Amino acid sequence: MCGIFGYCNYLVEKSRGEIIDTLVDGLQRLEYRGYDSTGIAIDGDEPDSTLVYKQIGKVSALKEEIAEHHPKRDVTFVSHCGIAHTRWATHGEPKQVNCHPQKSDPTGEFVIVHNGIITNFRELKTLLSNKGYSFESDTDTECIAKLFKHLYDTNIQNGNELDFHELTKLVLLELEGSYGLLCRSSHYPDEVMATRKGSPLLIGVKSEKKLKVDFVDVEFPDDNAQPETPLVSERSNGLASSRNLTVNGGRKVRLFDHEDRGNSNLLPIAANEFNLRHSQSRAFLSEDGTPNPVEFFLSSDASSVIKHTKKVLFLEDNDIAHIYDGEIHIHRSRREVGASMTRSIQTLEMELAQIMKGPYKHFMQKEIFEQPESTLNTMRGRIDFENNSVMLGGLQAWLPAIRRARRLIMIACGTSYHSCLATRAIFEELSEIPVSVELASDFLDRKSPVFRDDICVFVSQSGETADTMLALNYCLERGALTVGIVNSVGSSISRITHCGVHINAGPEIGVASTKAYTSQYIALVMVALSLSDDRVSKIERRGDIMQGLKKIPQQIKEVLQLEGKIKQLCEKDLKDQKSLLLLGRGYQFASALEGALKIKEISYMHSEGVLAGELKHGVLALVDEDLPIIAFGTRDSLFPKVVSSIEQVTARKGHPIVICNKNDEVWEKKAATTKMVTLEVPQTVDCLQGLLNIIPLQLISYWLAVNKGIDVDFPRNLAKSVTVE
Ligand code: UD1
Ligand code: F6R
Repeated sequence: MCGIFGYCNYLVEKSRGEIIDTLVDGLQRLEYRGYDSTGIAIDGDEPDSTLVYKQIGKVSALKEEIAEHHPKRDVTFVSHCGIAHTRWATHGEPKQVNCHPQKSDPTGEFVIVHNGIITNFRELKTLLSNKGYSFESDTDTECIAKLFKHLYDTNIQNGNELDFHELTKLVLLELEGSYGLLCRSSHYPDEVMATRKGSPLLIGVKSEKKLKVDFVDVEFPDDNAQPETPLVSERSNGLASSRNLTVNGGRKVRLFDHEDRGNSNLLPIAANEFNLRHSQSRAFLSEDGTPNPVEFFLSSDASSVIKHTKKVLFLEDNDIAHIYDGEIHIHRSRREVGASMTRSIQTLEMELAQIMKGPYKHFMQKEIFEQPESTLNTMRGRIDFENNSVMLGGLQAWLPAIRRARRLIMIACGTSYHSCLATRAIFEELSEIPVSVELASDFLDRKSPVFRDDICVFVSQSGETADTMLALNYCLERGALTVGIVNSVGSSISRITHCGVHINAGPEIGVASTKAYTSQYIALVMVALSLSDDRVSKIERRGDIMQGLKKIPQQIKEVLQLEGKIKQLCEKDLKDQKSLLLLGRGYQFASALEGALKIKEISYMHSEGVLAGELKHGVLALVDEDLPIIAFGTRDSLFPKVVSSIEQVTARKGHPIVICNKNDEVWEKKAATTKMVTLEVPQTVDCLQGLLNIIPLQLISYWLAVNKGIDVDFPRNLAKSVTVE
């Protein structure tokens, strides 16, 4: 997920140092969305020059990069527009040339930050290359910057000195796909263009004096109204920037001749288009009618703006916002019937945490519902579903060494430990290496022997868990090869292990781990797939698993639709219960343990995951008609045994809640004749079924807790990252 941030000051004197700090701080506040590189563009020392700093990694790396170049921090600007970006690589890996801002040319006549994907970028790249442009990055965004320059230059050659927003309209005509973008240019100093289509963008407005109006009216091409009030702008207030005035010269030159291509998507340009109405709404006059010192904060996310101002204007798709000299002009290419004529400046009542939570009540709920996306992100760029192959960049060079191992030890705590248990069987089946799974604290307590030819895999969401870290150091001291499966890039475990895989689930904020579990699970399966990619005997099984993985995000989406039924279940059947048993075997034993942990930590209800085969060895004594039991009855080779365990429960008048596959006749019949409740999930490959089965349990734990009025994101006595032994 990329993040955009922009900062414009007008009649508010700021040093370059302050401007850099504001931009960098804005990026830092977008950090929770996850990213792999960052960058900013600001004014240079020479007139109309641009400084661009960018770096892969965290915002701290960008800070170091800027510091190394020693920009003069004490130069001051009365008016200035800077833009900034955090990037999550889509087109092109995270390397410096691929970071945003992207430039039109070495001097950066036009610089762009962009969220989204330009789907026709290859076509544009070919066209621009044919016109002599050379590209330095692999990004789609670079095309936009070059398109700006090309259209600017060609129009100048034709005697058209376009206003920045006119030029932007011409550029947007050529773009297909989605975007939220900011553009600044040395040809339009102290101006910025902000536009969006399918990607959020908002503008925060901060002024010392109270604003006269709380809206900005939209400008359409056929607007020909005269100014309602005398203009107070750069042209009259004496604080002018060197902004070009619009000259509506000859025919505007576009990249393609759309008429020739039969493209009816022509921009309706009325002759009086540029005789624009400058209303007070756009000029941000203060109540006494004087020019208002004003700052604008542009962002893809209110979380980075709220620190500066609560007054924000949300742009709509196809809005083209032009900011210059303390004014915001919102242009549309055409007037649509019923479309709003204004954009209101709203006062955000939300706190930062609320903004980050989106429409969800808690981070945990948000993260549960993010799983279709987070699981996809774990696999993105790593599994080739067409050729059934896996490529884990962080492990590739180490695979031969890992394959030579005589044993593999997975070490983790809590939920991360459960993801190891869930994948142990498929790991052994595919890699043919014996795998043991260890709780980090117990492993250390036992001072378990570790040898130089051991492979030790450390699984951790935070990458900072003290027990896991101690176990890692213990294994490093003994010369083992260490592999990390970690969510937090740059965390201790990620840095200290020899190699590993980032699960790319995005930041997990809720204390109860949910999306990290499903992503760890998939990452571990992918490691097992990588280790077995040289085995002919496994081709079919590996193919089935990869095709199964392909469907998982969509299937998780289906399971999430059970929320309504689960909510009811928690309000009725499970209400006021003191204890709960979860039964599973084989692949589903881990689901039972993880489900029980979720319920314990969030709803404070005692719950226990029991291996269904162990029921008759003692636990059965607990079963009566009152004890709530959740059983995993999805189809795999152990299905008959699971059915028999559940029958032992129903024979003792228990009425379990069974998580089963859709339209499974066995459970349909039983549910029809007993009080048994079923929660149906889609079927997948046996070793992946746990990815779907855990979702109802995450939802059950969530709703049990919410019904009790517990603050789900901050359960008592628990911390997100356990950095003490
Ligand atoms: C990397 C990039 C990713 C980019 C991709 C494109 C990073 C963090 N990842 O992903 O943004 O899209 O290339 O080619 O820059 N590692 C450990 N221990 C761990 C986890 C990882 O040592 O616990 C190491 C890996 O061995 C590797 C590096 O960290 O050297 C990055 O790992 P990972 O993000 O999984 O690699 P890629 O998927 O290749
Ligand atoms: C449970 C939970 C904890 C963590 C455990 C390990 O919901 O969050 O059990 O799984 O503390 O943490 P990481 O994965 O960060 O090492």
